[in-house]
Amino acid sequence: MKLLFRIVAGAILVTPLMITGCKKNDEPQKPDTLAYVGSEVCQTCHQDKYDNFIKTGHPYKLNKVVDGKAPTYPYSTVPNPPTGYTWNDVTYVIGGYGWKARFIDNDGYIVTGDAVQYNLATQGWVAYHASDAPGTVKYNCGRCHTTGWKSVADGGQPQDGLPGMDGEFFAGGIQCESCHGMGNVHAFTQDKADITVNTDKTLCGSCHYRNENHTIDASGGFIKHHEQYDELIAAGHNVLDCVSCHSPHKTSIYNGSPGVEAQCTDCHTKTQKHNAAATCTDCHMPHISKSAVKTNEYMGDIATHIFKINTDTTAAQFSTDGKTANPYVTLAFACYGCHKDPDGVGGSGSVKTLSELNALAKGMHN
Ligand code: HEC
Ligand code: HEC
Ligand code: HEC
Ligand code: HEC
Ligand code: HEC
Ligand code: HEC
Ligand code: HEC
Ligand code: HEC
Repeated sequence: MKLLFRIVAGAILVTPLMITGCKKNDEPQKPDTLAYVGSEVCQTCHQDKYDNFIKTGHPYKLNKVVDGKAPTYPYSTVPNPPTGYTWNDVTYVIGGYGWKARFIDNDGYIVTGDAVQYNLATQGWVAYHASDAPGTVKYNCGRCHTTGWKSVADGGQPQDGLPGMDGEFFAGGIQCESCHGMGNVHAFTQDKADITVNTDKTLCGSCHYRNENHTIDASGGFIKHHEQYDELIAAGHNVLDCVSCHSPHKTSIYNGSPGVEAQCTDCHTKTQKHNAAATCTDCHMPHISKSAVKTNEYMGDIATHIFKINTDTTAAQFSTDGKTANPYVTLAFACYGCHKDPDGVGGSGSVKTLSELNALAKGMHN
């Protein structure tokens, strides 16, 4: 991916030349205003971090279409834009790394219609805002998808002069400086005092959440996606940070998930009554959330971060109106990923009623 260096509001332009300290006529000066420099500048001194980071989803969150060519990804492919569009009619692709891709048209609006969202798992097209005419849904997602987002309401100019863009940004995707802050001064001084390292879960939680009250929002029988923070703080793992388990620089969904650095058994010693092979995450992190595709009514496509299992057979996963999830995993979601419910819905294992599940689940590890 090519990052463009450009002047951000009130800041000075930093070039790799200046920060690597090559001598020209004038000795390079320490910048006196903070500015973004881009991940490719960080790469010049932190190659190892960059090589892992560039395989995570973060930098692929918003991909510019250059020269009418499809953006490329380390593990996935978005083969073509929606029917009726060529790559020349698309300015940016939103996502396409982990679950799904949406598209931004030549005026900066998100493409809407019946078959305009590409789902990676099924390699199929589904609706997005089908009742909104094309050219009416603005791109206002930038605070979680770009580096250095400034919305029009906060005084930003529409990115690239496109009217559908509801703000401007330094770079598409979550770059090094999204998490570490503007890095021009550090890149010059190479001093760790000039760069931020924030290990608190509120950093990750500034994007991996859905609403300011941190309720666990749901719809259609699944928890909505990007609520990992809301889920984590709802139960006992609230004592942990995201980086207690994750490396922020490695992927947690591809290539054997090297980003999951701490295993459950690093902190817990557990024996279990369930004799058949099931991993800790099979029962404690079932796919109760959905981003793009569900397999059946118990299986979405994102692992929950609630962890706590409620063995009560009458416990409900969702509120009566279906709009929020309760802060635990019910037996149905914990077990029907493998077993089947009495109607035959679920995984490929044996049929089990809730009371049969409860009989084994209560005191599972005692
Ligand atoms: C010219 C080389 C150079 C460039 C460019 C550079 N760094 Fe560094 N960085 C260093 C050195 C050297 C250290 C170790 C400093 C120390 O230990 O005192 C470091 C340390 C760090 C640390 C660790 C800080 C800590 O508290 O332990 C972070 C985070 C970091 N850099 C991020 C970045 C980011 C983000 C960028 C791009 C905006 C970047 N660096 C660009 C040389 C560089
Ligand atoms: C500025 C917003 C933002 C911040 C801050 C952020 N994320 Fe993300 N994260 C995203 C978005 C958006 C995606 C989806 C990227 C994609 O799939 O294209 C994502 C994807 C991920 C993924 C799945 C993709 C992969 O490569 O494994 C993991 C795991 C993850 N983030 C963990 C973290 C952790 C841990 C932190 C804190 C250290 C964090 N994120 C901070 C926005 C953010
Ligand atoms: C999603 C947020 C996020 C992104 C993106 C990110 N970092 Fe980090 N980085 C962190 C966090 C959090 C830590 C502290 C990790 C810990 O202590 O467990 C860290 C630690 C570091 C460190 C020092 C400690 C170490 O692990 O060696 C360096 C150097 C660093 N990052 C450089 C980079 C560079 C360079 C990039 C881009 C190529 C980058 N980071 C992208 C969140 C991020
Ligand atoms: C509060 C932060 C936030 C906002 C606002 C947000 N997203 Fe996201 N989005 C995320 C995170 C985090 C992920 C990845 C983790 C997950 O899905 O659980 C994600 C994932 C995605 C993905 C899938 C990425 C992939 O590679 O599969 C798409 C597409 C997407 N978002 C589109 C949008 C659109 C369009 C908007 C605006 C209408 C939007 N998002 C607003 C945080 C956000
Ligand atoms: C870094 C250490 C650490 C790791 C890794 C870890 N846990 Fe925990 N876990 C804790 C702590 C601390 C608690 C809260 C205190 C306690 O109950 O011991 C906890 C509590 C729990 C609980 C009870 C939650 C509640 O709300 O009652 C469950 C279930 C659990 N962990 C499962 C897991 C699973 C499954 C994994 C792997 C995906 C895992 N843990 C990984 C440290 C860890
Ligand atoms: C106790 C350990 C633990 C903690 C704490 C933790 N995670 Fe995870 N996370 C995991 C594991 C394990 C997976 C892989 C689950 C699987 O696919 O089976 C994962 C997967 C993910 C994914 C990929 C989603 C998917 O289902 O493929 C994202 C995004 C993510 N974590 C974000 C976060 C964020 C953000 C935080 C902090 C709010 C966090 N995680 C805290 C263990 C943890
Ligand atoms: C990863 C898949 C998987 C998950 C998740 C899973 N099971 Fe199983 N379970 C199996 C398999 C495989 C068997 C043996 C063959 C069969 O019964 O289908 C089994 C057998 C059983 C049996 C009968 C044999 C025995 O060990 O007593 C019970 C009862 C049971 N599981 C309960 C549960 C409960 C309760 C949960 C959820 C808390 C659960 N299972 C989650 C795969 C799983
Ligand atoms: C077959 C499903 C299943 C598997 C596999 C499983 N658990 Fe559990 N776990 C449960 C159930 C059900 C409960 C709730 C027991 C209760 O409330 O009486 C539980 C409770 C817990 C608790 C909290 C209560 C306690 O006993 O401390 C922790 C921590 C925990 N599990 C960790 C783990 C770890 C770590 C692994 C992997 C080594 C694991 N579990 C594997 C089903 C499972």
